[in-house]
Amino acid sequence: MVIRRNVPLALVLVVLVVTLCLLFYGHITTRIVSQGATDSCQVQTDIVASHTAKKPWESSNVVVGPRKQRYEDNLRNDTYYVTAWVDSGFSNQFIGSVNMIYLGTVSDRVPIISPFTPGYHVSRSAGPLPFGDVFNMSEFRRTLRTPILEWSEIKALAPRLSTQRPAVVEQLGCWSTRSRNQQNPTRPENLMNHLGLDVSYTRVPHWTRYNQGDLSDPHVALLPLAELIFPVDPNDKPGSDPIMAASPLGAKLGPDTRMACLDNLYFATVGTKSFEWEKPWSPVWRKIGRHLQFSDRVLRLTKGYLRRAFSVSSTDQLPPFISVHVRRGDFAKTCPDVTFGCLPPLAAYARHVKEVQKAIFFKHNIKVSEVLVASDELDPAFWNQVKAEGWKYIDHGAEQTFDEYGEWHGPIVDIVAQSFGIGFVGTKRSTVSLLSARRVQDWNQGVARMVDWNERG
Ligand SMILES: *[C@@H]1O[C@H](CO)[C@@H](O)[C@H](O)[C@H]1NC(C)=O
Ligand SMILES: *[C@@H]1O[C@H](CO)[C@@H](O)[C@H](O)[C@H]1NC(C)=O
Repeated sequence: MVIRRNVPLALVLVVLVVTLCLLFYGHITTRIVSQGATDSCQVQTDIVASHTAKKPWESSNVVVGPRKQRYEDNLRNDTYYVTAWVDSGFSNQFIGSVNMIYLGTVSDRVPIISPFTPGYHVSRSAGPLPFGDVFNMSEFRRTLRTPILEWSEIKALAPRLSTQRPAVVEQLGCWSTRSRNQQNPTRPENLMNHLGLDVSYTRVPHWTRYNQGDLSDPHVALLPLAELIFPVDPNDKPGSDPIMAASPLGAKLGPDTRMACLDNLYFATVGTKSFEWEKPWSPVWRKIGRHLQFSDRVLRLTKGYLRRAFSVSSTDQLPPFISVHVRRGDFAKTCPDVTFGCLPPLAAYARHVKEVQKAIFFKHNIKVSEVLVASDELDPAFWNQVKAEGWKYIDHGAEQTFDEYGEWHGPIVDIVAQSFGIGFVGTKRSTVSLLSARRVQDWNQGVARMVDWNERG
């Protein structure tokens, strides 16, 4: 009884003290101290201040100030950083950056994320797209409770989707993770142009490789890499490794110790398997990747597309749906045995959709009839089959997505749309499918299946 009475009383006292402080001293924090206010005033204002105080995971804690012409001028001399370049399609770039962030967390270095950069599937004129345009960085930092930077926070870069170079080109020495039977590092030209960097490379030591016996294995192991670049007492003698490749401008710098950088981290594993991301227990996905929510901007955009695809008005709820990702394109020619073709027919996806419908009914007790298909297939016959199944799709041609939002946004809208599904059927070996399956399973407690290349209906 006594305790119960005292709680409201304490609250009233706190409110009273704060009110009195405000009444008598106006500007709480500055004037109280100088006018010799009582301790209780100081305590109360500390509580008020703690709600607005800078959080330890905010970017401003790990940079000198606003972005600079030279990134080097914006690095703190008491902080260590790590970054990696990105290459290939959107999802592979995502995986590479998330591997890099994981490496940052285990090596006590602040990760600096590269923007998505045109490469394999997107033309150069599309320009780079900041990571934080697609993913919610403030939420991500808050969840991980650690500062994570983007390149645009340390260096003055051209605006999103612009192909201009920055005013200053800086030289940097980086590590190359390229497999040992390859002569050259990976040099993502579009990205180096955007960041204004001229980079020399040194090979990572053999003991950081996942499979030391196989010279053609592209995988590196993240914990040995952390040992290599750890700021305190790293397992590396500076200057002990020969330069693998001079920079385009002819510099031969050894690996930088303040800013550890790597040419590519797509092929990286914590250590139990290569292509570890394919496993639901992937530590990098579980510790980092699954906490990357999409930004408000792409969520809002995608919901509009979904409403139109399902013919739902802006006031009505979207129906629960199963999304299907049918990767075709270059997959037609890449499979273990091309004799009978590498592309499973739509009937194989339809069979898995039925299984997923059953599993969702069993798990959530809801009947899901809507199906949303995304594919890089251009043949109208394929899309006629999709319509014949009664399935829906986002028609980027009719929507003029490309003209309206640029080349990146076709795949991004499809990927975000897939993440809203309660079920998912994807294409085995596609990283787009892999990530959508994980999101549907982990974010929506949904059900996911993959169709393999040799399934025939
Ligand atoms: C580190 O930076 C701070 C702030 O700019 C400066 O006062 C200090 O002298 C620097 N320390 C070293 C060792 O350079
Ligand atoms: C990030 O998520 C938070 C919480 O959901 C939201 O308030 C904020 O607007 C989001 N920011 C962006 C850039 O999407």
